[in-house]
Amino acid sequence: MKQNHYNLLKRFLQGSKALFLLSMTASGISALCDMISPQIVRVALDQALGGADASGLPVWVRNLALQFGGFDALGEKIWLFAMAIVLVALLKAAAQYIFRVANTAASERMVKTVRDSLFAHIVRLPFAWHMKHKTGDMIQRCTSDLETLKNFISEQMTGILRILILLGFSIGFMFSMNTRLAMIALTPVPIIIAYSLYFHRKISEAFLNCDENEGVLSTMAQENLAGVRVVRAFGRERSERDRFEAQNEYYTGLWMKLAKPLAAFWSTGDILSGTQILLTVCFGAVFCIRGEMTAGEYIAFLSYCALMIWPVRMLGRMISEMSKAGVSIDRIAYIMDAEEETDSGAHLTPELNGDIEFRDVSFSYESGQELLQNLSFTIRGGSTLGILGGTGSGKSTLVLLLSKFYTLSPDSGSIRIGGIDLTDIDTAWLRKNMSVVLQEPFLFSRSIRDNIAITSDDAEDEQIRTAARIAALEETVDAFPKGFDTFVGERGVTLSGGQKQRTAIARALIRNTPILVFDDSLSAVDTETDARIRAALRERFRNATVVLVSHRITSLKNADQILVLDSGRVAELGTHEELCKAGGLYQRICEIQEEAV
Ligand SMILES: Nc1ncnc2c1ncn2[C@@H]1O[C@H](COP(=O)(O)OP(=O)(O)O)[C@@H](O)[C@H]1O
Ligand SMILES: [Mg+2]
Repeated sequence: MKQNHYNLLKRFLQGSKALFLLSMTASGISALCDMISPQIVRVALDQALGGADASGLPVWVRNLALQFGGFDALGEKIWLFAMAIVLVALLKAAAQYIFRVANTAASERMVKTVRDSLFAHIVRLPFAWHMKHKTGDMIQRCTSDLETLKNFISEQMTGILRILILLGFSIGFMFSMNTRLAMIALTPVPIIIAYSLYFHRKISEAFLNCDENEGVLSTMAQENLAGVRVVRAFGRERSERDRFEAQNEYYTGLWMKLAKPLAAFWSTGDILSGTQILLTVCFGAVFCIRGEMTAGEYIAFLSYCALMIWPVRMLGRMISEMSKAGVSIDRIAYIMDAEEETDSGAHLTPELNGDIEFRDVSFSYESGQELLQNLSFTIRGGSTLGILGGTGSGKSTLVLLLSKFYTLSPDSGSIRIGGIDLTDIDTAWLRKNMSVVLQEPFLFSRSIRDNIAITSDDAEDEQIRTAARIAALEETVDAFPKGFDTFVGERGVTLSGGQKQRTAIARALIRNTPILVFDDSLSAVDTETDARIRAALRERFRNATVVLVSHRITSLKNADQILVLDSGRVAELGTHEELCKAGGLYQRICEIQEEAV
């Protein structure tokens, strides 16, 4: 295991280590009880009833017998042995009870710790990281892989002491009773372990395959549920059903295919263990008849043989599960090793009402070619900049850069607010002072009130109302029977696109920030409402610096400045009046939109 995985495991086991140790000890004690019972039977048969020589027994056993008047006297009181067996059984029951309780508590505690740390970590990962990774895969890692890890630790790791005790004591007792029979009885053991190891190695790939295909199946179901409207609208029910059924069939087939080798494994294992018992029964009987072994030893021998079957099989399984758990830790560690969004050196918390200045900004996403090219412009503090540009021209990217969701590489220009470089400004502070309405608003499955107040925990009803009023949402919400308590269904399907956008705007407006950014946030709102919202905004946020991305000339024309973005470059920059006469892209779009009206 890699060092960092070891550290990770140590961190995950914080708070559950003591419980795991307790459960391990308890299961060890219950194994010891298993080991003692055959010895009691053996002494009862041989020394108490059979009158055999007791000199081979440990001193403390002989002393204990003397307390009761010696072995001969004990032969008269054979119920004492029965009592001893019952006592051991009770002790074992108690140990088992403690084991179960402690083990469940420990593993659930551990799972909670892991879940908490994963969640805390994931929400702090940079936006770019989230864009790169599939949500489904991440969820799989946080659930299935965590389950595998839990099972390994709670079943295999805690069982190891038990396995070692059962094997060690069984073998030890066997050798102490009769070396030759012990050797004969143990011959199948290496074969069973090797076979079990080989089998589990081979089968684990098939298990992994099953897991992955389960993931495919659930992704398919999840997509269909989320995209139910598309499926219906295009009449794709039939073909989606066929696709699902095909994948389901394949997945079911994988498990069916596993059934035969699994059955073969258990049967072969049974035969091998049966052989072990057979060898012991036959050879033991011969040794007994020859007088090389007592009846008590014979019975104890058989008990140990039977008790060994489980740990021997488990040993092979454990070794192979170890690699499976290793894969799961790898997959979880992949998330935990991802670097959280950091503010290296950025700690300034200036007033953010100054000019916003883009200086020679170039940017490209990791994979693609240069998207923004040498952008330079200044937004005066308190003024409004409108941005117009074709799809894919980099408008949203510009907004993301301004919010520090992506950072500029050192030699590709700079963004400054009030003369201070964005990289020096504390990220949390920046976002607290800048309200961004992203192009695709996301609503939580909570009430409208909670969705609006998500940015400020202590928002009063009046604040929520005011924000909703400016966003032209108040009347709409009041028309709902439950008003602001109306629950937004999963992904907000109960709201129309425009209503969702307006909720997102209200959410941004509830905080009185010096910078407001709207990334095409009114696209699904009708022109009239659009105008109403902008008028309310102008009145209420007179001093704010506003960045307004839009496709509508009517939305943009009152802006102090309009930037026309074309393939990541500044194509035009000026007021509505200026650009209307400039003979460029803006003028053309202006004419098209006027014609349409
Ligand atoms: N996370 C990303 N990784 C790679 N390319 C991206 C990413 N996000 C957007 N792009 C690409 O960058 C270009 C500009 O995107 P965007 O800024 O969203 O344009 P706009 O908002 O102007 O429509 C598009 O071609 C888009 O495919
Ligand atoms: Mg966009």
